[in-house]
Amino acid sequence: MKLGTLALLLFTTEALALTAGRRARTGTSSFSRVARSTEEEAEEYGALTFNNVGYEGTYYNVESINVDKCECKLNTESPFSFEGPNSPLDEELSVHLRGPLRLKQFAYYLFGNETNDDATWERLAYYNSETQAAENVTFMGNVGENSTCLGQALDYVGTDGISSATSSQVLEADNELYSDEEIIIYSNVTCESSGWSKDCGVYRKGIPAFHGFSGTTKMFLFEFETPEESKYSEDDVLYYDMPAIWLLNARIPRTSQYPTNTSCSCWASGCGEFDIFEVMNSTDSNKFVSTIHDFQGTDEVQTGLTMNGYMLRTPEETQSGGVVFGSDGTITVFLSNYTDFSSQIEASVQQSWIFDLEEDTLATTLSSASSGLYSSSSEGAAVLVGSSNNWITLSMVALLPWIM
Ligand SMILES: *[C@@H]1O[C@H](CO)[C@@H](O)[C@H](O)[C@H]1NC(C)=O
Ligand SMILES: *[C@@H]1O[C@H](CO)[C@@H](O)[C@H](O)[C@H]1NC(C)=O
Ligand SMILES: *[C@@H]1O[C@H](CO)[C@@H](O)[C@H](O)[C@H]1NC(C)=O
Ligand SMILES: *[C@@H]1O[C@H](CO)[C@@H](O)[C@H](O)[C@H]1NC(C)=O
Ligand SMILES: *[C@@H]1O[C@H](CO)[C@@H](O)[C@H](O)[C@H]1NC(C)=O
Ligand SMILES: *[C@@H]1O[C@H](CO)[C@@H](O)[C@H](O)[C@H]1NC(C)=O
Ligand SMILES: *[C@@H]1O[C@H](CO)[C@@H](O)[C@H](O)[C@H]1NC(C)=O
Repeated sequence: MKLGTLALLLFTTEALALTAGRRARTGTSSFSRVARSTEEEAEEYGALTFNNVGYEGTYYNVESINVDKCECKLNTESPFSFEGPNSPLDEELSVHLRGPLRLKQFAYYLFGNETNDDATWERLAYYNSETQAAENVTFMGNVGENSTCLGQALDYVGTDGISSATSSQVLEADNELYSDEEIIIYSNVTCESSGWSKDCGVYRKGIPAFHGFSGTTKMFLFEFETPEESKYSEDDVLYYDMPAIWLLNARIPRTSQYPTNTSCSCWASGCGEFDIFEVMNSTDSNKFVSTIHDFQGTDEVQTGLTMNGYMLRTPEETQSGGVVFGSDGTITVFLSNYTDFSSQIEASVQQSWIFDLEEDTLATTLSSASSGLYSSSSEGAAVLVGSSNNWITLSMVALLPWIM
């Protein structure tokens, strides 16, 4: 089925099951088009802010995975509960990139540290393509053992970003990912063995497992190029010339990022995805949009909440920017040539990257309510049983200047 046809579907539980049945794109759902097409024409912004992110909710973790029988079990008896600013995105996240894309720099920061509580961002992970610096990063991909229901397992990628490797490799300088090719970045902190009560929970047998990037107040920065697709034709790939950079709850890829059965990952029950820069339309491929996929203010995790504004993709230029998770539940995505990747960055300096932009910031305030309620169906698959809010109720305000 063509994506264009799918975009016309109304998002019912059946549709969710259907999308999970094909190549369920946990990473970057194309289905947000449904909500957006009913909105007014989106405009360009320099930054996009989601306010009031974080709610009281639960999701289900995978309890067991049987690769041979293609069976996974979610532990519906012990839902994972969360609350507070940015939740559940305050948890450990993995970083995902899809081509066409050349990653030049990547950095992860936490706000303050144990000995220093002043307003400074401290860099805890870093990659530089040119110098080949690679601190606290592991380059991975879905390049391991294949299975009908789980897809390919997580494994190390080679320096080309697409082959598999037997140990952690540094992504080569000027590496280019083409359409549909994806890499995943984790920290270099290894997980304990797979197990319900272990630090990383249950994960797929045989994978190298690493912790994601943790913290309520954190920042991810990227310097990248998204050249127009030059290798594949439109018929070869699913996401033609649709680059993306996004974050997932780090548990998801360790069980299965693209399962055919929603019980094989915590994603469908709302453990969280944040799309930072995502092209969602291959005929209008220079618009980066941002989406939150969980159950805050929506009952459609697949659709999520997409901000009705975009940032400009400039395929012929190097771009810099990222996402800041504020302690108050404010998540801001921005593209700014002022972005720098120093090991320490003062909060005021970071804010100036956005203040000083010519373009405005678009802000959306999320409803505090969770509307996703899950229960176990007779088949053991998770299904939606209740809803109350809809994202149309969100208030949208253009803010200038932007305030952290
Ligand atoms: C998913 O897996 C569960 C548990 O193994 C099974 O009961 C269910 O039928 C599967 N659902 C689909 C759509 O394959
Ligand atoms: C914490 O902050 C102090 C003072 O700014 C700095 O010297 C130190 O390197 C920082 N520690 C870490 C682990 O970043
Ligand atoms: C992880 O990265 C840090 C920072 O670069 C480094 O000091 C440490 O040795 C690395 N650990 C492993 C196990 O590679
Ligand atoms: C993995 O298995 C699925 C289902 O059998 C198949 O459609 C897919 O092409 C396989 N992927 C690879 C890379 O072999
Ligand atoms: C690497 O990143 C992890 C994940 O957030 C963090 O816990 C750890 O402290 C970092 N390691 C270093 C050496 O900064
Ligand atoms: C994709 O972009 C084209 C050109 O701007 C527009 O006509 C079309 O409606 C868009 N498709 C969707 C599904 O948003
Ligand atoms: C940002 O910097 C890149 C080079 O790094 C340049 O090509 C581009 O024109 C700059 N963009 C703006 C808006 O200044």
